[in-house]
Amino acid sequence: MKERLEEILGNAKKEIESIKTFNDLLNLKSRFLGKKSEIKELMKFLPTLPLEERPDFGKQINDVMKKVESLLDAAEISLNEKDYHNTVKSSQFDYTMPGRPLQRGTLHPLTLIQEQIEDVMISMGFQIADGFDIEDEYHNFDALNHPPEHPARNLADTFYVKSNTVIYPPPSPQKSQSEIGTTGWGQNSLLLRTHTSPVQVRVMESFPPPIKIISIGRAYRNDRFDLTHSPVFHQCEGLVVDEGITFKDLKDTINILLKKLFGNDCKSRFRPHFFPFTEPSAEVDVTCFNCSGKGCPTCKYSGWIELFGAGMVHPNVFDMIGIDSEKYTGFAFGCGIDRIAMLKLHIPDIRLLFENDIRFLKQFSIRG
Ligand code: FA5
Repeated sequence: MKERLEEILGNAKKEIESIKTFNDLLNLKSRFLGKKSEIKELMKFLPTLPLEERPDFGKQINDVMKKVESLLDAAEISLNEKDYHNTVKSSQFDYTMPGRPLQRGTLHPLTLIQEQIEDVMISMGFQIADGFDIEDEYHNFDALNHPPEHPARNLADTFYVKSNTVIYPPPSPQKSQSEIGTTGWGQNSLLLRTHTSPVQVRVMESFPPPIKIISIGRAYRNDRFDLTHSPVFHQCEGLVVDEGITFKDLKDTINILLKKLFGNDCKSRFRPHFFPFTEPSAEVDVTCFNCSGKGCPTCKYSGWIELFGAGMVHPNVFDMIGIDSEKYTGFAFGCGIDRIAMLKLHIPDIRLLFENDIRFLKQFSIRG
């Protein structure tokens, strides 16, 4: 056996010395080290040898394999060098050609807007909170005071996640499984959150007042695409809870954010509205970016684009979570980031934000 191994090594040396092309190299690699190589065949004899001879024979095979490997590596290095020199020498290589210009990336318009909103809100003392795209029915609906028959829970509006797995994140400890949502696919079903408002609940479950947070992320609804609607969109949730918080604090906060984003001339209006988790509630509109308020298909001829839902936190929400609703009041709002981007960057159709067309995206500078 030993002689045979030496013979193989001798042959390998000779043949590797005569390698001329990368093809030769590949062929020899497979001949000397491949699955069907003679060395690998010899390994099969190992179990047939007496026990005391096996370590010695195993070592001899390994040594030969390592030597062949390092000879092949050296041959590859030398081939690469020759190849490089040949290319450089040949006239095909032109040192004077300028390099390809590097394409500089830009931030996605939604990221630009997110950063601007975060800067404004942080300057007003808000902290940034994060939530889950996949939520449970309890946090998305029940804890936000939606009655069991509320239409938003319907499959026509909400994307439920079919799942037999353990519910994650876990429902609130305040409620037992039997007490919580039973529509959708079953008990406390998982769903793609329909708004960022469940972050309010999770923050209030985890931290005592005073609370002052915003949270930006995706929301999902069974909505049809049109100029201002997308089934996946982005919202910024805001929540402030403390003693003595009033509706004026809510209006002031939203107005400051709007002025910082759109300038002092920005026109907005608060309209009474209904949300199950705020009382009183309002929607906030700004002048349509497309027609400056004259009326056009984008604003459905109203002259206004709806940007925010907002209101004072409903005492039922505090009670569900265990916050003293006699002592504390709070306000909350949720605004559409996509629509803010459209208004601020003069984007006529929401779909442009989701199509990843590089010709569209590269029009926006790195920072606003
Ligand atoms: C809500 O989602 C409430 N959670 C907002 C809220 C938070 C109210 C806290 C009270 C307290 P609404 O469904 O109106 O509300 O959505 C809020 C904003 O999200 C809208 O004004 C709009 O700017 C944006 N939005 C809603 N649906 C879509 C959609 N399909 N595509 C793009 N933007 C949307």
